[in-house]
Amino acid sequence: METAILMPPETMRREFHSEKRVLVLSYSQSGDAARCAAELLEPLRRSGVRLTEVEIRPLRPYPFPWGSLRKFFNVMPDCILGKTPEIEPPEIDEDVEWDLVILVYQVWFLAPSLPIQAFLRHPAAKFLRGCPVVTLSVCRNMWLAAAERMSDSLRRLGAHHVDNVVVTHQGPIWATFITTPRYLLWGRRDRLWNLFPEPGVGTAELSRVASFGRSLAAQSSEFEPDRRAPFLSGQGATRIEEKYILPELIGRRMFRLFARLIERFESLGGRFLRGVGVYLFVATLVAGVVVGIPVLFAFRLLFSRLLCPFLRGYKERMSGPSDRFQVGTEDPVHRLADH
Ligand SMILES: Cc1cc2nc3c(=O)[nH]c(=O)nc-3n(C[C@H](O)[C@H](O)[C@H](O)COP(=O)(O)O)c2cc1C
Repeated sequence: METAILMPPETMRREFHSEKRVLVLSYSQSGDAARCAAELLEPLRRSGVRLTEVEIRPLRPYPFPWGSLRKFFNVMPDCILGKTPEIEPPEIDEDVEWDLVILVYQVWFLAPSLPIQAFLRHPAAKFLRGCPVVTLSVCRNMWLAAAERMSDSLRRLGAHHVDNVVVTHQGPIWATFITTPRYLLWGRRDRLWNLFPEPGVGTAELSRVASFGRSLAAQSSEFEPDRRAPFLSGQGATRIEEKYILPELIGRRMFRLFARLIERFESLGGRFLRGVGVYLFVATLVAGVVVGIPVLFAFRLLFSRLLCPFLRGYKERMSGPSDRFQVGTEDPVHRLADH
């Protein structure tokens, strides 16, 4: 009894709750992100940690498949400008001190999806202060801008972003420009003309995610609140292809410009002019993909020596947090913030 009274409250808490508590927050529209999350979580479940899963639910669910170009592209300005939908209040037990939080999100128009952005702004997200967070980001293959926004949001909330696992759709980039929209807009999962790959996350990526799950499970005894060091260093959790950096950086500027333009159109002419702005964006995007991306690839080849230091620096910065941490140096979150 006497010892118990002399123990600092933190120690007492650990004594009575030696079981590791992991909170999983997720949103999945088509089921892709949910499939990836299942692969990551299975080894953790088997390792005996106590998983609590909370789904982020928008009050008005987004339709899947989207069914129309207009509905799909209409959310672009909101994603870029952070105009978030209302979500059901997430039920997170405030009395639990989480040893790890896993946040599963997807990329929508180079930003975290709207339900996830809504959660990050919700008062319920305040509990993240001091929590170690592993993010699982699922996308076609342009995720860099969204990852920067995610890191910023987590930093603002005071969370420790310890790892980022990135999962991309199968097939070459040119093929995913067809397979992903075809799936998202009309729900077609078949292999077009037997020539294109299936849309979405393939089996190779799913096994890659499972390996990260096993790695986390093997280190579960090290899960603890306030941890800042990554678990997945040197395991290729984030793989960055240099050739996609320029198209994404330019796309990001173009999206921002159009997001503001579409808003302006709406303020001048309501839904009708907003629609006109959205179709203008779609036309520019298609031209950008068909003409702009090949031109940028050629530009990169021609000026590779000039561009190399910039691309290397950007790549190194974006490999965080998992691969920017070295034992004995400062923590990855702060190093990322320096840039
Ligand atoms: C509205 C919308 C916009 C998207 N924008 C991007 C994007 O900018 N970059 C990208 O790589 N993937 C993008 N995607 C693809 C999704 O990230 C990808 O399909 C992911 O697997 C979705 O997971 P979920 O259906 O389980 O939510 C977008 C998907 C949607 C629905």
